Amino acid sequence: MHHDRHGAKQPGRFDPARAAILDDTARFAYVSPDSLLAELALPPSATLADFGAGTGLYAIALAQRRPDLRIVALDEQPQMLEYLRNAIERAGVTNVEAADPSALDALRGRAGGVLALNVLHELGDAALGELRALLPSDAVALFVDWNAEVERPVGPPRDHVYSPSDAKRRLEAAGFTVEMRAPLPYHFVLAGRPAPISPP
Ligand SMILES: C[S@@+](CC[C@H](N)C(=O)[O-])C[C@H]1O[C@@H](n2cnc3c(N)ncnc32)[C@H](O)[C@@H]1O
Repeated sequence: MHHDRHGAKQPGRFDPARAAILDDTARFAYVSPDSLLAELALPPSATLADFGAGTGLYAIALAQRRPDLRIVALDEQPQMLEYLRNAIERAGVTNVEAADPSALDALRGRAGGVLALNVLHELGDAALGELRALLPSDAVALFVDWNAEVERPVGPPRDHVYSPSDAKRRLEAAGFTVEMRAPLPYHFVLAGRPAPISPP
């Protein structure tokens, strides 16, 4: 568990009592599962880590659309993992598994891609480092998060989230090479690759 949230923009951890708001398929109108898959552009049979998967709404939707993928739905909160396991069972999908942070070791350097949806503003520096370590040099982490510069009827307060340029700067400081993709109505979309280590 990441008790050290140093570096996170949002002061508190996501409250599992609010899980139901994550499970609302109305979210697909402004962040569609198909748009995430298009941005991730995963090769056949890749392993996708959904970092901070919450209730699994998106992990399951992506797994249903791409049965060839293996999706590891990671969450650090036991209550969310419980919710996630039940949702996976109800959906009857076999290519998505719920995983706690003890799964990170086995995934290190082996993820075909990482999805971080509505999660960057919650991640401390240590967790962001762990996310980066999952990626081999040619893989992408897709950071899709609420845009602080957009007036919106949904999502966290604007001062709990990043502007696209602040998010890009934070990711660069954490060792990513960052490409800004076309924004969604309420979200920025940043693709991060592990930056080459510069020689001393
Ligand atoms: C706002 S929710 C978003 C959930 C999901 N991505 C979605 O969009 O429906 C953020 C989730 O990330 C999880 N989380 C935060 N920091 C984490 C970390 N370091 N490792 C794993 N999960 C984390 C929280 O427990 C919470 O379930």
